[in-house]
Amino acid sequence: MSEKIEVFGLSQTVSELAETDISKVAKYGWGRQGLIPLWFGEGDVPTPKYICDAASESMQMGETFYTHQNGLSDLRKELIKYTKRSFGVTLEEDRLTVTNSGMMAISLAMQMLINPSDEVVVIGPVWPNIYSTVELNKGIVTHASIKMSHDGWSLDLNEVFSAVTDRTKAIFVNTPGNPTGWIMPGEDQKSLVEFAREKNIWLISDEVYHSLVFDRPVATSMLNFAESDDKVIVVNSFSKSWLMTGWRMGWMVHPKGIAETLAKLVQISTSGVPDFIQRAGITALRSGDKTIAELRERCQLGRDIVFDRLEQWPSVRAIRPNGAFYAFFMVDGVNDSLDFCKKLIDICNVGLAPGSAFGPGGEGFLRLCYASTPEKLNRAMDALALEINKR
Ligand SMILES: Cc1ncc(COP(=O)(O)O)c(C=O)c1O
Repeated sequence: MSEKIEVFGLSQTVSELAETDISKVAKYGWGRQGLIPLWFGEGDVPTPKYICDAASESMQMGETFYTHQNGLSDLRKELIKYTKRSFGVTLEEDRLTVTNSGMMAISLAMQMLINPSDEVVVIGPVWPNIYSTVELNKGIVTHASIKMSHDGWSLDLNEVFSAVTDRTKAIFVNTPGNPTGWIMPGEDQKSLVEFAREKNIWLISDEVYHSLVFDRPVATSMLNFAESDDKVIVVNSFSKSWLMTGWRMGWMVHPKGIAETLAKLVQISTSGVPDFIQRAGITALRSGDKTIAELRERCQLGRDIVFDRLEQWPSVRAIRPNGAFYAFFMVDGVNDSLDFCKKLIDICNVGLAPGSAFGPGGEGFLRLCYASTPEKLNRAMDALALEINKR
């Protein structure tokens, strides 16, 4: 029995939740003078003023009360327009629930679906919180791996299909992917939707990086291939596309008939997303296309600064991705990425996330978030070159 259960009487599941290796590195480096932190998944540009103004005006108008558990009708209507314009998909309002972040949408989906010992096939390497939410709900994670080759990151769908057993409740996929930048091809999305339909299991598709793509206008959504009654949940977020990480607002698209269940879960957790934050979301959706375009341009520039260097370093294996805002690269001889990231803090004063945090297939890699200024990225790469090129 863990010490925390004995001393505090905490739930065993909660006490056994692992601290992520990203947190361990961040704790190690936090507060160091001059450190360049590229370990978390966010940029360094604050939310644009026109979005902040919308929230502030709403607050001044007294929109400060409890609100609708599935989200304001006005916001859901705007999300319907956004989905149509971005993906060409028509939704109805009762298929949308606004959530307090993309993370909360994932948590609600897992709470809603998992019975103890249900299996969830997680396609990884992926953001560590996914594993934790399955575990917190007493589910069991099984794996299918995206792999790096000379041609890029790819997934063998047969690996996903063979990971599904009689106990599988859902498949979780994140595309464009954190940390790899992998983008699932449309034909594979279609096959996965058909497979889930045939097996009568759920498919949770995390599309929070849908707009951060460099070789196409938008990543295709699972919604492009799903029918309205398929057991498909698409998770999305205001965090990345509209520079709103601290606002904590996301949304989910789900089949008809489960909005009431989600409303119950929202009621006993946050009771809804604050009205004024939803008003800011409406403004972001109506007026934010330029913000997205500028972020994409900035990320593409960041990507190229980082990869132009990484590709020259003999000990590094890296694939320039077309989605999300991370470099996920391997350094020869690194088999303890947590330890190596601490070393990079000590020697280079640069904070990266260790690949070990991202589940099976992640060890040996390092993740660098390039949603940053050219000046900061160049300084970080100069510092990293000295240590990484020694190897
Ligand atoms: C893959 C993935 N999904 C979901 C999220 C959640 O985003 P948020 O909770 O800020 O909406 C993140 C955040 O980093 C992420 O990387």
